[in-house]
Amino acid sequence: MHKLIINISSLCNIETTDECIDRRSGAEMSVLPVLDNAWLLSENGIIHSFGKMADLPEIHADETIDATGKMVLPAWVDSHTHLVFAAPRDGEFTDRIKGLSYEEIARRGGGILNSARRLNAMDENELYEQSLARLHAVMATGTGAIEIKSGYGLCLEGELKMLRVIRRLKENAPIPVMASFLAAHAYPQEYKQNKEGYINLIINEMLPIVAGEGLADFMDAFCEEGFFGVPETDRLLEAAAKYGLRPKIHANQLHYSGGVQVGVKHNALSVDHLECVGEAEIESLKGSVTMPVLLPGAAFFLGMHYQPARKIIDAGLPVCLATDYNPGSCPSGNIPLMLTIACTQLRMTPEEAVNAVTINGAAALGLQHDLGTIKVGKKANLILTKPIPSLAYIPYDYGNNNIEWMVVG
Ligand code: NIG
Ligand code: FE
Repeated sequence: MHKLIINISSLCNIETTDECIDRRSGAEMSVLPVLDNAWLLSENGIIHSFGKMADLPEIHADETIDATGKMVLPAWVDSHTHLVFAAPRDGEFTDRIKGLSYEEIARRGGGILNSARRLNAMDENELYEQSLARLHAVMATGTGAIEIKSGYGLCLEGELKMLRVIRRLKENAPIPVMASFLAAHAYPQEYKQNKEGYINLIINEMLPIVAGEGLADFMDAFCEEGFFGVPETDRLLEAAAKYGLRPKIHANQLHYSGGVQVGVKHNALSVDHLECVGEAEIESLKGSVTMPVLLPGAAFFLGMHYQPARKIIDAGLPVCLATDYNPGSCPSGNIPLMLTIACTQLRMTPEEAVNAVTINGAAALGLQHDLGTIKVGKKANLILTKPIPSLAYIPYDYGNNNIEWMVVG
């Protein structure tokens, strides 16, 4: 099956050298190579070739799409979501407006524990159907690969239920889906006085089944004061490594928690959130393979201070952006909205922001050789925009969907 797109006003984030770039870091994040007035041919879901319209060879395609005035980009890679959940938490949203903090709500048994009660009460099929509908909704705003976490089960059955739902999404959704095991998201009520007991439950009972059944690609933990401390995270990541599960962890959202350093120590694929990042965190990330993933939607929705993206990029490091789609701290899986927040609040340029959700998003999932740039041999998971005047128009025209369609293959 050959699909040809012609008259593309700008083909964005192309890669034309033989070797594959792994990520864009520091000053390179401003580089977003573009081919104007271009065509692209895909063959069986893979990018076969592309070039300038002036050099279009004779091609007999099964389908030809005229993209006059429209741009083509690699589809967004959303590397951090909690898209499988049972119910919204709009009541807590109102509580926060009236003055309660996110942490206070959690201490009172709301927050993640609220979501866990609702999830454990829900039938697995219903959970799947709801989650599939959310997945289709985010695809309509350009998401072409996604990571989804467990972490609202907080008991063996509940965690397995979530991971089975994610596996069904993996099998049935048209886009790549990656799963992270996040039983260490909060201590369940019955373990509040026996934290050691819950860590043992995760390590000795949950992990062997999750890994044995191949239900997770990555290991996650919410490394934060009041949640899982550095020593607990250390133990959990060490145990996961024995099963070959690489960490992608929640770090430094609410405090300078040591989460970044413990992630780097365990060769984490990414450390995510990063509202609290100083010199020590930046030093630890330098020279590591760990991707800093910023979740500006959560800082926006919780009214917190934003992640210091400029400081991180100016230190020569890469930055990835993701949504954190979840019912508590970011009930939106809309990447274009994250691009707007990144540009206006984190002071990233549109080029940096687009790199952060394409090639660096792919790198945060270890998928950079398949996704994230327009390169011959990579998957043809592509965004076709509506007619727009520039790349900057996507974050500029916020609240509106400028994605005409997202194509997989
Ligand atoms: O990434 N911070 C921890 N976990 C999620 C929120 C979970 C929730 O509030 O339901 C996050 O923000
Ligand atoms: Fe999260």
